[in-house]
Amino acid sequence: MVTVNQQRVPRRRTYLMCSPEHFAVEYAINPWMDVTTPVDSDLAVKQWDRLRETLVGLGHEVHQLAAEPGLPDMVYAANGGFSVDGTVYGARFKHEQRAAEAATHHAFYEAQGWRFIAPSETNEGEGDFAYVPEAHGGLVLAGHGFRTEIPAHAEAQEALGRPVVSLRLIDPRFYHLDVALAAIDDSNVVYFPGAFSSASQRVLTQLFPDAVIADDEDAMAFGLNLVSDGANVVLSSEATRLAGKLKAAGYTPVPVDLAELKKGGGSVKCCVAELRH
Ligand code: ARG
Repeated sequence: MVTVNQQRVPRRRTYLMCSPEHFAVEYAINPWMDVTTPVDSDLAVKQWDRLRETLVGLGHEVHQLAAEPGLPDMVYAANGGFSVDGTVYGARFKHEQRAAEAATHHAFYEAQGWRFIAPSETNEGEGDFAYVPEAHGGLVLAGHGFRTEIPAHAEAQEALGRPVVSLRLIDPRFYHLDVALAAIDDSNVVYFPGAFSSASQRVLTQLFPDAVIADDEDAMAFGLNLVSDGANVVLSSEATRLAGKLKAAGYTPVPVDLAELKKGGGSVKCCVAELRH
């Protein structure tokens, strides 16, 4: 059981982010996107800057990928790859509109000297892959149902040499794993059960009996789309109820306002790829 007032210990992280200077909602590839709702791009940049400063302020290192015109979703840097222990499994986007983003991430990893495994299968990086290093010796959780294809789960397992557990997403509002589940420390997760098939819910219960459980309201506020360093949990300021649950479990919620980025169907985690050396 989760002990109240348990001392949570942060671990220093390295992240990759990409500025929303070219962010816009020009097409709709998830239920949150509405091309008729205007986006305030200056405000988007301000909110994103605040997120970056928050992560730096918590002691983390943030690398930046140069934003490219014509790629309005590039701000969602989590989708460009998935790294574990110095190896990156590259992304291959489902939608044509985002396909070119993969090459910019590839170039970044190449320049940094990472071992890069090019994908043959459709997968959207950390959008659909999460890593829990101390769970069962290092476990990859992988979503499918909307974006990432099941064969990519096997490909990721071969690329990374870690067991990959496939989880089926069933609610189009939660089209990526990272809007339904997050690692909150090295061995535990928080998730919204309703986003998963009943069989996948059983798998999660078996693997993570002490998980923090979120509800529909938490998920709709994009609360699950969080970034945690094991102690500080950076999450959407809309997710006040989830913040309370995390606090009760001993974590420190750090709310940030990303209302403009929500118009594209993403929040904190979507904007942040973790670089696991
Ligand atoms: N508009 C983007 C898309 O639909 C949002 C991606 C959100 N990223 C994420 N990691 N969930 O592809």
